[in-house]
Amino acid sequence: MSEENLRPEWATKIGFILAAVGSAVGLGNIWRFPYIMGKYGGSAFLLVYLFIIFFICSLPLICELSFGKRTKKENVGAYATINKKLKIFGWLNIITAVLISSYYFVIDGWIAKYIYINVVNASVSDYGTYFANFVASPVVPCVLAIIFLAVVIFFIYRGVNKGIEFINKVMMPLFLAVIIILCAFSVTLPNASDGLKFMFMPDFNKINGEMLLAALGQALFTLSIGMGIILVYGSYMKKNESTVKSAYTIIILDTVFALLAGIVIFPIVFSVGLDVDSGAGLAFITLPNIFTHIPFGNILGVLFFTLLFFAAFTSSISIVEVPTSALIENFNLSRKTASVIVFIVISALAVPVSLSMGVLGNFKIFGKNLFDLFDYLTSNILLPFNTIVLCILMGWFVKLRNLRIFHNKAVYAMFNFLLKFVTPAALVILLLSGTMFK
Ligand code: PFF
Repeated sequence: MSEENLRPEWATKIGFILAAVGSAVGLGNIWRFPYIMGKYGGSAFLLVYLFIIFFICSLPLICELSFGKRTKKENVGAYATINKKLKIFGWLNIITAVLISSYYFVIDGWIAKYIYINVVNASVSDYGTYFANFVASPVVPCVLAIIFLAVVIFFIYRGVNKGIEFINKVMMPLFLAVIIILCAFSVTLPNASDGLKFMFMPDFNKINGEMLLAALGQALFTLSIGMGIILVYGSYMKKNESTVKSAYTIIILDTVFALLAGIVIFPIVFSVGLDVDSGAGLAFITLPNIFTHIPFGNILGVLFFTLLFFAAFTSSISIVEVPTSALIENFNLSRKTASVIVFIVISALAVPVSLSMGVLGNFKIFGKNLFDLFDYLTSNILLPFNTIVLCILMGWFVKLRNLRIFHNKAVYAMFNFLLKFVTPAALVILLLSGTMFK
């Protein structure tokens, strides 16, 4: 058997699409996209966002997928096929993935805790205080992050087919079912239409530079580009699958799920006349506070946090595969040994990151605690930087043609122009502005 045949491959096309969509649909879709859409002009934002994701961010997505698919290697090996000196960029993708994991698993742990609180229907009078005390506590959040990581590592250890593909085939349909139930509930709430108006009401006056950068940053993060994930998932694709079709399927499904998340969240927030928020505040304070006051609130709470759980799990598994595959292929390790090493490294980072919300809160670098620092460093600097490197290498050195992606001449010319000039220029501006994910 050739070495190539020893590499894992997705067993089914649907398995690959579900895994890639599972990676893309994460916390970014649920607690960030709807808010940004409402803030920056509703359906006017949506039009701009669709343009950006289809014509600007689709290119690095297609390139990352094709780069993996053609080289059949993980990040370091893939970059080394262009030139050995470029290995450093492969490692940079892996470092980015590990740094993101270190805080993403902390949030995963919070989600597990909130499922528990809603299942036992704990009486919490104010989630603002509760959340602040909980995340600052030294033991439980760390333990939960490590348990969540251990479960993810178990599926990573089981491998691409029995682990990653299997769990996505189970969780993504469940995710769809839960989000539909929640949508049906939300739209029947009093004042639901106010929530939908906030999200969809077009306001073309809000289209400005800041909004364009918000759309670009969101599109990059939500597609999991620049973290090495797409490259590794692409490397498990079968030769006869189309990267272009797959990329657009991922983009469309990711956007549909982000919109559905908004249809769930805003009617709930507006039904009690509260202000909308984004990020951890929305998920862990505003919504739980509402759930305690409305009929069937705790059932709604269980469903909502289960939704977050599925979204977070399928994204987390994708990011952990990045360092795991790198260890397996660069150091000839077994999947078992590689999984154990990744478990130890991410745990060792997640613990101080979690503690930085409490006892290590005074330990600051550039004025930020570890949690904020890792978030800032990855979202604002490493993701755009890694993606610019990818676009420049693929646009100027490898050429889309050589990746055998576009067969139609006119389409090729257009995408080549976008990849060579437009996408990198937009990303450089994003990198310089550096303010998107504060
Ligand atoms: N696309 C993911 C999201 O929107 O949340 C980005 C991501 C973050 C993927 C963290 C994986 C991950 F571990």
